Amino acid sequence: DHGATPHSESWSFAGPFGKFDQAQLQRGLKVYKEVCSNCHSLNLVAFRNLADPGGPGYSAAQAAAFASDYKIKDGPNDAGDMFERPGRPADYFPAPFPNEQAARASNGGAAPPDLSLIAKARGYERGFPQFVFDAFTQFQEKGPNYIHAILTGYKEKPADFALPEGSYYNTYFPGHSIKMPPPLSDGQITYDDGSPATVEQYSRDVAAFLMWTAEPHLEDRKRLGMQVMLFLIVLSGLLYFTKRKIWADAH
Ligand code: HEM
Repeated sequence: DHGATPHSESWSFAGPFGKFDQAQLQRGLKVYKEVCSNCHSLNLVAFRNLADPGGPGYSAAQAAAFASDYKIKDGPNDAGDMFERPGRPADYFPAPFPNEQAARASNGGAAPPDLSLIAKARGYERGFPQFVFDAFTQFQEKGPNYIHAILTGYKEKPADFALPEGSYYNTYFPGHSIKMPPPLSDGQITYDDGSPATVEQYSRDVAAFLMWTAEPHLEDRKRLGMQVMLFLIVLSGLLYFTKRKIWADAH
């Protein structure tokens, strides 16, 4: 069983004019920081990226302040010792486990995957006809739809389902037996913008945030795409009138 098909959510970044919702990315970052980062790394994201255009919209000073909350392992220093220091904008999010064995040992044998590119990884891994079909529908929303679905998809197992020890039943996970304990519960994270403190809202926000980590240039690409289309329309008009002019008295 490949897991149920995730429901298509409506995302601010969908469609040719789509843009990330900055407040949503900031909330999703908070969910990652307070919950997911206990088990999942985010190796490809540096603190300075939080101030990149097309992202959560923090200033360079805010990104630096965010970084300084973290303890980063560094060294060796002149005395040959490793040491810890506050994070800097150029540092990357630190990983929760030192290596894969440690990650597996703490999670019942399944290593929590790095989340940097998960929104794309889980969106693209599809068989051939599905792949072609997806390209013309909501292809790029598959990943965030799936992340949202997994986080909201924990259910009581059906009576006849044999759930292995240390696994949880999830409607959307392939095989339905996942080693990630349900990470979210209502009221767990306090938002400062008055958004609902619900599993539904947390899941949606962190899925959008992970779409940004996987597709940090999404807004740029969409803008360029529109400019290219506009250029092609103007060019077609010019070519049409040029053709009319050139062939005007040819009969
Ligand atoms: C797997 C997201 C929190 C442990 C996954 C997967 C995603 C994900 C997308 C991949 C599912 C797949 O392979 O298709 C998240 C998010 C979290 C979160 C967004 C925060 C809201 C946690 C926490 C833990 C954890 C707190 C540890 C207590 C795991 C493990 C797996 C996993 C062990 C591998 C599951 C398996 O292969 O059976 N997570 N996770 N996750 N996560 Fe999380």
